[in-house]
Amino acid sequence: MDAFKRSNRENWNERADVHVLDRTGFYAVDAFLAGSDVLYPIESREIGDISGLKLAHFQCHIGIDTLCLARRGAIATGLDFSPRAIEHARELSQRSGIAADFVEGEVYDAPEHIGTGFDMVFTSWGTITWLDDINAWARAIAGVLKPGGRLYFADSHPGIMNHEQIGDVIRPHYDWRSLRERPERFDAPTTYTGDDTPLKVAHTFEWMRGVSDVVGSLLKAGMRLDFLREHEQLPFKLFPMMIDAGERMFALPAGIPRMPLALSLQATRKD
Ligand SMILES: C[S@@+](CC[C@H](N)C(=O)[O-])C[C@H]1O[C@@H](n2cnc3c(N)ncnc32)[C@H](O)[C@@H]1O
Repeated sequence: MDAFKRSNRENWNERADVHVLDRTGFYAVDAFLAGSDVLYPIESREIGDISGLKLAHFQCHIGIDTLCLARRGAIATGLDFSPRAIEHARELSQRSGIAADFVEGEVYDAPEHIGTGFDMVFTSWGTITWLDDINAWARAIAGVLKPGGRLYFADSHPGIMNHEQIGDVIRPHYDWRSLRERPERFDAPTTYTGDDTPLKVAHTFEWMRGVSDVVGSLLKAGMRLDFLREHEQLPFKLFPMMIDAGERMFALPAGIPRMPLALSLQATRKD
């Protein structure tokens, strides 16, 4: 593992410890433990019937989504490279009484870590920005899926990730593609949930890319695109000006030109 990833993993370990306490309610841990399905509305509408499916959740973090997917009837396995996140996911599985497997490991080596023959891969919100090799990501997805198995992906729109809010204007601020060896560095003293616990590793390294890189990587890995959709809402405030849009989602305020903030897609592994 290179220095960027090691540093990111330290940052994620720290965040996992903060997120599981959920002092601000961002992760809806209490609602989840009380029996609510806390998937966000976009994926909730789009994933279809997952009952009985053998499902791999890439970058599962503390496992809340994995366990919601299991509660919907999937036989779920969560994969994440943060040992602290995996530990918390296993605890939440016990506390909720919902069975799921949680495995520590790098996404690129998913077939090695969790095996193959999956009906579905699910991955959402804050995923590919952490990955320096989108082709290896797509190969790992195709690698764990059985022929005819599908990927569901929802995340920030790649076309907006290189923007920043400067004053009251949102404009491009970074190159739209990052070289593997030169990710963007972001400094943030605390995590995105609003919890003010200071992070010791208070910076992250992230990679920008275009929509064609994401879709192209999947096609190259032997997947067929079933649908691709764009959305005007996100489950977090990518820009400080964003306002509460209900259902734990955020949108741009009135007066700001509408733009796609999120992208979702489904792709199926060809035979
Ligand atoms: C924003 S979270 C995942 C999103 C999920 N929706 C959530 O918030 O619960 C990002 C996760 O990606 C994991 N991660 C980052 N890079 C990874 C990699 N190369 N392999 C596996 N997991 C990785 C981090 O440990 C973290 O748990």
